[in-house]
Amino acid sequence: MASIFGKTSSGETVHCYRLYGKENAYVEFLDYGASIHAICVPDKNGVLCDVALGFSDISYYEKQDCYIGATVGRVCNRIENSTFTLNGKTYPLYANDGKNHLHGGKIGFDKKIWQAEEHDDSITFTYVSVDGEEGYPGTLTVSVTYTFDKNNKLTILHTATTNKDTLCALTNHCYFNLNGDSSTTILNHILTLYADSFTSADAESIPHGEIVPVTGTPMDFTTPTQIGKGIDSDYEPIRFGKGYDHNWILNNTDIVARAYSEKSGIQMDMTTTLPGVQFYSGNFLDGSLIGKNNVPVTNRSGFCLESQYFPNAINVDNFEKPLLKAGDVYKHQTTYQFSIKK
Ligand code: BGC
Repeated sequence: MASIFGKTSSGETVHCYRLYGKENAYVEFLDYGASIHAICVPDKNGVLCDVALGFSDISYYEKQDCYIGATVGRVCNRIENSTFTLNGKTYPLYANDGKNHLHGGKIGFDKKIWQAEEHDDSITFTYVSVDGEEGYPGTLTVSVTYTFDKNNKLTILHTATTNKDTLCALTNHCYFNLNGDSSTTILNHILTLYADSFTSADAESIPHGEIVPVTGTPMDFTTPTQIGKGIDSDYEPIRFGKGYDHNWILNNTDIVARAYSEKSGIQMDMTTTLPGVQFYSGNFLDGSLIGKNNVPVTNRSGFCLESQYFPNAINVDNFEKPLLKAGDVYKHQTTYQFSIKK
């Protein structure tokens, strides 16, 4: 059942939707940005705690540029020089990250109100992005279906169709804090990324095709490793990203990432059908936004695991392209399973 969350500055009503899992666990979603607003799961003492960053006030969702909780599109992550060529035609895009295009442009999918449809144990949000919106060709009809099952597994299914060949690369940009306390940092979390390599990027976080093995670097999370261990190292990619903000190339495993907080005992396992994951350690959160319970959203108070095609893929020969042809169906699925570590 939907409740009213608030009104945007232009007077549109934003709704909040809730799905229940087991032991009273629940996830809340907003039609604004088809966002994840809260993920409340039991900690090791059975106390429900919220492991997702978000805001109590819609005005923060409107003004934020951190994409907290949001569905990101039409193309997530960066496109170099805000331009790409498709079927011989060059498309200029809005440059909202220096000279580059980030997370869909000036007004991305995160700032739109989506149409909600509630089902028994899932919710589908749909948005129609018209031909030419943010510079992209083709009218794209995009849907996100969230399911939260009786095992506390959150499933995100993205689908889309277009009437002209276009790009489509959607992700969810939830920031997790598995301590269940957003006034703490995520530096104590133990992370495993089932990824033997990452895409090296320049100082503007743009990859150009180089693939680097993680072995012997602070990017190596192939065994459980504390996030804080290497986050301030002098390794050039870490300096460029001001911490972790890179695309890992996923090994072909069922679970692609596992994060754990000893404090709460909560563990999160991730799966995805996409080839990459952006592990972003909240390096640009600066305390200027006030989150839920009046807690400022401070540096490294949350981390993202964004399933994705590799950043800038459309401009890099050896990367799989996020192309959606007219008549085809875009489909990918990502899951986050919450449990208490045994
Ligand atoms: C990007 C970061 C960016 C953040 C918020 C992440 O997906 O990789 O560089 O600061 O989103 O915009």
